[in-house]
Amino acid sequence: MSDPVISQLIPLSVPELSGNEWKYIKECLDSGWVSSVGKFVERFENALAEYTDCRYSVAVVNGTSALHLSLLACGIQPDDEVIVPSLTFIAPVNTVRYCRAYPVFMDCDRDTLCIDVRKTEDFLFSECVRRSDGFTYNKKTGRRIKAVIPVHIFGHPANMEHLLDISIKYNITVIEDATESLGSEHKGKKTGSFGEAGCFSFNGNKIITTGGGGMVVTDNKDLADRMRHLSTQAKKDAITGDHDEVGYNYRLTNIQAAMGLAQMERLEEFIEIKRRNAVSYRDLLDGTSNVDFLWEQPPSKSNFWLYTIKVPREHRDALMKYLSEKKIQARPIWKLIHTLPMYAECQAYKIDEAYQAHGTCINLPSSVNIKREDLEYVAHCIKNYFHGT
Ligand SMILES: Cc1ncc(COP(=O)(O)O)c(C=O)c1O
Repeated sequence: MSDPVISQLIPLSVPELSGNEWKYIKECLDSGWVSSVGKFVERFENALAEYTDCRYSVAVVNGTSALHLSLLACGIQPDDEVIVPSLTFIAPVNTVRYCRAYPVFMDCDRDTLCIDVRKTEDFLFSECVRRSDGFTYNKKTGRRIKAVIPVHIFGHPANMEHLLDISIKYNITVIEDATESLGSEHKGKKTGSFGEAGCFSFNGNKIITTGGGGMVVTDNKDLADRMRHLSTQAKKDAITGDHDEVGYNYRLTNIQAAMGLAQMERLEEFIEIKRRNAVSYRDLLDGTSNVDFLWEQPPSKSNFWLYTIKVPREHRDALMKYLSEKKIQARPIWKLIHTLPMYAECQAYKIDEAYQAHGTCINLPSSVNIKREDLEYVAHCIKNYFHGT
């Protein structure tokens, strides 16, 4: 069967901006409150704290700065180690190095693609030792294991219950990278609210966007105060120019927060659409040999930020090329971070499943505003590819 012809590219993930964005941004422009002070910053912060059921939130310039501030505020020191997944966007790993700490790379779980918690426990049990100061140390490097960063890959929650259990047992701080999973849940509890701090990104490709932006949520007031302080150049006094440590210019602007608030008003609707479209994709591809759809793992609920299929590794690149020719934007999963030159010297613990995921996963067009006929077209092209091979 030949594919129907389409004129426009079907993008991977683009924003949906048809709510109050113009109205709220115009208010900023009309009032002159365009920079990092203004009522929308606080309103956006409150909206996200309420949504995730966390006490405090700090709005920042992007998800990367949210992670960086969380690590600093949680006391990650130079020469500490932080357990991270090798299969992730690189930002959380880089922020470990911004603190001059070292990543220890962990494998991924087959069903969620998130950090393999069982292997993490195995690593802590067999390769680490708890010392009399209460901290856990890596026997091989002698370094303190201070934190772990689970990343909820493509919106699918990591196994947080188990990870929290072992974090208590080994006295390790959990900092959640929930940048891709706003609105995802486990047993009704939102991702980002499990760890000591939860980080979000509002980059243009995320489920809601502020162009660029981020947020940290936490229940710890001291942590929130410290992050807010660090995000505003560690300013002690707004008038006298008094600062008490080296800070950062990480605060979100009022214009971006205005956009964020408008986007937050639509979040539940966006999640509903994305979940419905996931079912449509899965049903449309059902029975296609060689194609598995990455699905949520009940009782977790995914926001299905990026739809992902697994295909035999010998087909991954050829299928993506075929889809590109059909004006469909599809993407392979990230290169494993422990294989990149700047991280090649760091410890990687029994990585196995992540290679499999890297070789077989493809992200499909996932925008909130994707049309039903586009979903059908994408599924049709994937089926046609496999029937022709
Ligand atoms: C898993 C993950 N972590 C961190 C980030 C960093 O967020 P930002 O681009 O807003 O800095 C992103 C996405 O961009 C991401 O996908």
